[in-house]
Amino acid sequence: DCSFQILKKCYHFEWIDEYVDRIQFEGYIDSSVAATWELNLGGVPPIAVENTGSSGGGAGRVVPMVMYARNAELHAESELTEELKKIMPRAKWCDTLICVPACNISTAMKAFKDLRISVGAENVYFEEKGAYTGEISADMLKDLGVKYVIVGHSERRQYFCETDTTVNKKVHAVLNAGMNPIICVGESLEQRELGVTMEHITYQVKCALAGVPAEQARKVVVAYEPLWAIGTGRTATAQQAGEVCEGIRTIIRKLYGAHVARSVTIQYGGSMNAKNAAELLAQPDVDGGLIGGASLKPADFVEIINAANQE
Ligand code: PGA
Repeated sequence: DCSFQILKKCYHFEWIDEYVDRIQFEGYIDSSVAATWELNLGGVPPIAVENTGSSGGGAGRVVPMVMYARNAELHAESELTEELKKIMPRAKWCDTLICVPACNISTAMKAFKDLRISVGAENVYFEEKGAYTGEISADMLKDLGVKYVIVGHSERRQYFCETDTTVNKKVHAVLNAGMNPIICVGESLEQRELGVTMEHITYQVKCALAGVPAEQARKVVVAYEPLWAIGTGRTATAQQAGEVCEGIRTIIRKLYGAHVARSVTIQYGGSMNAKNAAELLAQPDVDGGLIGGASLKPADFVEIINAANQE
């Protein structure tokens, strides 16, 4: 099919930059399709991955996040809001962001306005305007006061046909609207076991950032979320999370230089909870967390924020 043809052509390119540029303009390719192709060929495209040691951590800001994909209560008197009220004044340098479905953004903003908690979106459509009934553009989110938008969450990739190309378009849309994208990347269990984790992550990060200039790239958040750890209760070890997050910063440094690499926030997500948060966040290149299940338990989420506040 179309994707296969493009990949076949691209495989002969010498440099991944050219490979990424071409696929961006020639059509949709999903990174899982690419990975399958690469494995079938017994090799991967020539992506250079250097683990040259930690670049010294990120921006020094920690951004734990919660996603209310389900039916959590967000109003001003909910248990979570009450618990957060107790802890937030003590949070000195940890930024907290709660990402909610678009229909809950206004309610969440009211509930959290005095708590120094920002409210973000879980998805966006990439077209600026046009007849796309039901879709929500970046400008519409911005008008609501949103500053962060999750892009390419694995569930969106899995259930809603989100590809590396649409992720790239969404990243541009969010940045052009003056907001910050939180770009989710992560390998499957099969990819980890086959030893191609960093190749896959490199591919996803490069696709997501294709065409993004350095002055916009510094506003990006990358969330490393191994697919096998999301919602499964199985967490990456601190070492695994640390290695991949360090690898992501190395990719960004190679693309944009050390200054931008330091500005970018890199998070770990995937069954982060009250027990494992401190160890994961202690990794030099893990600047924060993207938290799903544990965010629905107020006491746990508060404990994760506390862990993020330990220097
Ligand atoms: P989890 O979810 O913390 O429940 O694994 C993470 C996510 O959905 O991004």
